[in-house]
Amino acid sequence: MNTYSRLPVMFVSGSGAVLKDNHNNEYLDAVSGIAVCSLGHAHPAIAEAICNQANQLIHTSNLYQVEKQMQLAEKLIALSNMDRVFFSNSGAEANEAALKIARKFGHQKGIERAKVIVMENSFHGRTLATLSATGNEKVHDGFYPLVEGFVRVPYDNVGAIEALSNDPDIVAILVEPVQGEGGVHVPKDGYLKALKTLCEQNDWLLMLDEIQTGIGRTGKWFAHQHEGIVPDVMTLAKALGNGMPIGACLAKGKAAEVFAPGNHGTTFGGNPLACATGIATLHIMETHNFIEHVNTKGQMIVERFKEALKDIAHVVDIRGKGFMIGIQLDHPCGDLVQKALEQNLLINVTRGDTIRLLPPFVIQNQQIDEMIEKVVNLVKNHQAQ
Ligand SMILES: Cc1ncc(COP(=O)(O)O)c(C=O)c1O
Repeated sequence: MNTYSRLPVMFVSGSGAVLKDNHNNEYLDAVSGIAVCSLGHAHPAIAEAICNQANQLIHTSNLYQVEKQMQLAEKLIALSNMDRVFFSNSGAEANEAALKIARKFGHQKGIERAKVIVMENSFHGRTLATLSATGNEKVHDGFYPLVEGFVRVPYDNVGAIEALSNDPDIVAILVEPVQGEGGVHVPKDGYLKALKTLCEQNDWLLMLDEIQTGIGRTGKWFAHQHEGIVPDVMTLAKALGNGMPIGACLAKGKAAEVFAPGNHGTTFGGNPLACATGIATLHIMETHNFIEHVNTKGQMIVERFKEALKDIAHVVDIRGKGFMIGIQLDHPCGDLVQKALEQNLLINVTRGDTIRLLPPFVIQNQQIDEMIEKVVNLVKNHQAQ
């Protein structure tokens, strides 16, 4: 259906940080399929894991024990210090599970019309509940009536949430540790920690949408680990399968005990093929020490952009965490995506005025140089339309 304004290019193969189109042209990929292919394209060990699993078993059902699902859950629990996992096929579905946990958690406390605090400028998906949670009018437009039960506050503003402490219907906060689609907004240090404290004080669930930030993107396995906290609920997707569709909703403590058989389900979620790919992804991340690499290289990339663009008046801000980098201009710059494509570089522009770079973790040093040089030149030469 007519859901995307697609760029005039079709990729047919890839290797590492490079994609090849159907005319044999090569492109440096600084998007990673929107933070999905963190280990790059056609990673041999990922391909091998998929082939081996496909030769063994692709799908049974959640009616039965699923060995690979249990193994991936164990691994995620070990990495996150959480207690239980529900596997889905996408990020939006993982958030749906989180929102259902919040509502049932409230129901168990006698709250019949539970409310979840969500943020301005957020993005949580395109299903009816997740688009309703999303803080973007363009995403809502045409789809009213929205799902009710959300209270919206400004991002990175603890006071705005504190002010809601007297509302007896609130059961949870749903927040991205770094806002991705909203323009790569990194909150002040201590923000998530303060939200965790507020949740403890009010018996709310802290639910972190780590769909874009998780699996190493910000230089920790999960972005909240920069603040040394553990949330009650965390959602993952995107990079968990390096391109194989998989999502996960993790829960801890009381949140992990909310669902009982019959409360939630999925046909495909947690199937052996997706989970075997997830296991391989986490294994490669771990054995190649990509987390530390992203942490140090990410800071270096932001510093280099700041230095190279410091005299450019139309650059409003350069920010990021790990390999999640935003360069905000003082005017719309969506046309830069096409201009970069013409220079064989894939970039993304979000919120109209912010270049978003999400390179794969396997990007080589000379490819980082190429990415920085091309983006800097594009920004320097860009004129407001
Ligand atoms: C923070 C966040 N949450 C949820 C989603 C939705 O994930 P999906 O497109 O897999 O449904 C996205 C996708 O961009 C996202 O960035």
